[in-house]
Amino acid sequence: MIVPTAVLSRLAYSQYAIGGYNINNLEQILGLFKGCIDSQAPFILQISKGARSYADKRMLEAIIRTATEIYPEAVFAVHLDHGDEKTCYDCIESGFYSSVMIDDSHEPFAQNVATTRRVVDKAHPKGISVEAELGRLGGVEEHVSVDEGSAFLTNPDEAVQFVKETGCDSLACAIGTSHGAYKFTGRQSLHFEILEAIKKRIPGTPIVMHGSSSVPEEEVKRINAAGGKLDPSARGVNENDYLPAAKLGVTKINVDTDGRLVWTRVHREYFRDHPQEFDLRPPGKIFVEQYAKFIAHKNEKLGSAGKLPEVRQAVEKAKA
Ligand code: G3H
Ligand code: 13P
Ligand code: ZN
Repeated sequence: MIVPTAVLSRLAYSQYAIGGYNINNLEQILGLFKGCIDSQAPFILQISKGARSYADKRMLEAIIRTATEIYPEAVFAVHLDHGDEKTCYDCIESGFYSSVMIDDSHEPFAQNVATTRRVVDKAHPKGISVEAELGRLGGVEEHVSVDEGSAFLTNPDEAVQFVKETGCDSLACAIGTSHGAYKFTGRQSLHFEILEAIKKRIPGTPIVMHGSSSVPEEEVKRINAAGGKLDPSARGVNENDYLPAAKLGVTKINVDTDGRLVWTRVHREYFRDHPQEFDLRPPGKIFVEQYAKFIAHKNEKLGSAGKLPEVRQAVEKAKA
């Protein structure tokens, strides 16, 4: 069942976080649904602009709709990740999305406000909520590259003004994470004090944490042992920080890179161990299983595991 993102955020607020998982293909979708049912968790399925062009937006939509038939128990939202204005409008018009993210965080404050406001004005009449971003993450996003030096953190005072002026429903904040596999040089440093300050100033506004993959050392080692050449210094967010962040108002935690690492490890190991093989289905099957296990593990860390029955009940009660 596809539900409004706002409903999931409201139920999670200050208690647990919901996984915002990026998907690009059939195998990821199958693994995501299986992992969330196995762990009894609600989830947010995220589609980036890149994913929409890679798999064709219509193909992804069809696969997701079919997955809801295969897994009728699933409760989830469909979200556009890192959208530009044009893509946001396309998703709003499609009637398929629960929420969109407008990401103009690389632009000056006034322009970010103006663009976000326009998207909110188009989305809200259709019951679609809007995530916007304030502050700049390090690392590389789809349409903007920010080197670590120029990354800057969200200013809590600006956050108050931004939410008030845009009417956005949730706010992606920069608190020290970045996209990709190389987030930290040396010790990780998440700025929880920023979350605390934002929660105090705008209580009830859901916060989103991007760039939250944990980049497990073991995964990097296995990939490299199977022929990969990832930098062994790759570091991510400590998974034990997810729940403390959730208690400070983070309702959505975005994970993409870790899933890509699972894909890379499974396929590299499979073809290393079966050099004569050329059927794509055996490794595909292993990937679906491994991805489902990975998703169930993340949901445990996010605190969303086990919440499916109460979320379903709340959604059905609201409908009645
Ligand atoms: O934050 C970006 C996500 O990891 C999506 O990546 O734009 O390459 O699909 P993508
Ligand atoms: P990671 O690169 O840490 O997985 O972040 C994903 C993300 O923020 C998607 O929007
Ligand atoms: Zn992101």
